[in-house]
Amino acid sequence: MKILVAASEAFPFCKTGGLGDVTGALAQVFSRAENAEVVLFLPRYRNIGGGAFSPKAAGGSFLVPVGNRLETATMSRVQWGKVAVYFIENPKYFDRPGMYRSPSGDYEDNDERFIFFSRAALEGAKFIGFKPDIIHCHDWQTGLIPAYLRTLYRIDSFYAKTASVFTIHNIAYQGMFSRDSMAKAGFSWLDFTPEKLEFYGGLNFMKAALVYADIITTVSPTYASEIQYRPEFGHGLEGVLRSRNTDLFGILNGIDDEIWDPATDTFLERGYELKSFQRGKAAAKKALQKELGLEENKDLILAGVVSRLDHQKGLDIMLKAAPDFLDKIQFVVLGVGDPGLTDALGALAAANPRRVAFRSGFDESLAHRIYGGSDIFIMPSRFEPCGLPQMISMRYGSLPLVTRTGGLKDTVFYNGEPKDSNGFAIDHADEGQLRSVLGHIVSLHGWVENWNMMVRNAMSGDYSWGRSAEVYLKLFNIAAQRRQL
Ligand code: ADP
Ligand code: GLC
Repeated sequence: MKILVAASEAFPFCKTGGLGDVTGALAQVFSRAENAEVVLFLPRYRNIGGGAFSPKAAGGSFLVPVGNRLETATMSRVQWGKVAVYFIENPKYFDRPGMYRSPSGDYEDNDERFIFFSRAALEGAKFIGFKPDIIHCHDWQTGLIPAYLRTLYRIDSFYAKTASVFTIHNIAYQGMFSRDSMAKAGFSWLDFTPEKLEFYGGLNFMKAALVYADIITTVSPTYASEIQYRPEFGHGLEGVLRSRNTDLFGILNGIDDEIWDPATDTFLERGYELKSFQRGKAAAKKALQKELGLEENKDLILAGVVSRLDHQKGLDIMLKAAPDFLDKIQFVVLGVGDPGLTDALGALAAANPRRVAFRSGFDESLAHRIYGGSDIFIMPSRFEPCGLPQMISMRYGSLPLVTRTGGLKDTVFYNGEPKDSNGFAIDHADEGQLRSVLGHIVSLHGWVENWNMMVRNAMSGDYSWGRSAEVYLKLFNIAAQRRQL
């Protein structure tokens, strides 16, 4: 089976969050399946993999219509294991400091940038002679591809047997643009109806995918239900999703168990595994306290956070509760995003330098040391399609404290009984609930046997891609078979 993965980011080439982790991991796992041939299409941003890769020109260039102009696309290629990665180049669109935004906000031509990328992906596959059975698209940036296949490319024989699968990673970001984007995308005005492309007078890239994709997936079973039945989760697309109910599947993400393995993690002082976690974690915690200038005290509970600083993640409630726990809990936060949260976290750390450390920025290696060195990992998200840090922290023996939503609810179990629990959970991102569970954590931490039982439960969970990858491949087969009919 020929699979084309089209995405706006994929680790280790370009990543702003979990989307990149997941598209990169999926391309790899698909490529290891029997009879699978996988190509991954990405935009050629300014900074690809921190310079660790040297893409080679993939011969010539081709033209891509954008509105009433023709833009030039060139491609370059690297072989990444069994995956052929193609970067679609156009300096005007992608040679910029950020992937989606500048410090002052989203790029104003994001519609055009991803219209270009989506059409260039379809033209590019032809250019390299790769006729996909499946095009797997991710989030709004590639949402127009399923729509193109059923509109402008409907009578294109190259794509006669191609099915599209669209994965929703976060429906809070939909790629909603004005009606002017219709012309830039080249769609017919006949398709500008509420049943098809129109959404409140504009063009919504994610809706386009939900209407036209052969199969829709999202990244956890709970989120699949939340976005259909609860407007605060579906953000206006609940109706479209319900109308596609029989084609919509919630498939839990996994984590890359080679990148995230405390036994072989070279970012840590010393590796550790389930059998030896006590010594390994103690060493990692001490080293982290030292690195960040915190009090080196093994009896304090070290709470870690590695996150985008965004309203979604609920860290504002942690900020409110934290000051009252500083005699027992140290907080270490690594994150970038919201300026208000950044300032508040900075101020809390400045006022309590031995108890709170805040690092603003994206730092892969510090992230590893936080997962390894923390006792608990805080993630009080208001919504969370899947969430990867709670799984990473469990693998590293740091107990996650989460809200019961989306993928957090599907992976973290807490019923007050240590033997049945692998973390802690509250129902909502609510300050009172957070305070009460933090209080419980402080008292439980003294009960070493119970605590360690929970750590063992967390570390022995299966967070690998195995099962989920099989489900994707089954769905790909179903989608491809439907196109044969
Ligand atoms: P998101 O909603 O941000 O995509 P996920 O939970 O799916 O959230 O995944 C976030 C991923 O990004 C995890 O791999 C996490 O470790 C990583 N991450 C988030 N912020 C940072 C940061 N500041 N530095 C390093 N890694 C980060
Ligand atoms: C999104 C979601 C996150 C999910 C990730 C990967 O960024 O916010 O919950 O884990 O996509 O699917």
